[in-house]
Amino acid sequence: ESSTEVDISAIQPGQAIKSIFRKQPVFIRNLTPKEIAEANAVPISSLRDPQTLAERTKEGKENWLITMGVCTHLGCVPLGAGEGEIKGEFGGYFCPCHGSAYDTAARIRKGPAPKNLEVPTYEFTSDTVVKIG
Ligand code: FES
Repeated sequence: ESSTEVDISAIQPGQAIKSIFRKQPVFIRNLTPKEIAEANAVPISSLRDPQTLAERTKEGKENWLITMGVCTHLGCVPLGAGEGEIKGEFGGYFCPCHGSAYDTAARIRKGPAPKNLEVPTYEFTSDTVVKIG
């Protein structure tokens, strides 16, 4: 059994950190109100892998975007969690291997990746701790 507990108390709005879950990177991001608004403004029918931000987060905690840090094209680790402003043109994550760009809900918006970054199973065990897996 391999779950991962992460203290998220130090992650400021606009920041994302990288953790490890089952030997793979996982991104934990504290979305700003602007990033949430940007995600919610996208017409779902325009998406390659149609999902709302609400479907990809927990109710009442939609600022916490928790996804695998594994590009759904060929598995590179996208940039945007811990690399400052390198978030790509849709403001989320950018995979430098073949140019897949993900938005502020980590949904695929451009490039060869077929799917959004995967949301792992997780739960909040307190306001400041998330248990992944
Ligand atoms: Fe990310 Fe190819 S592995 S774009």
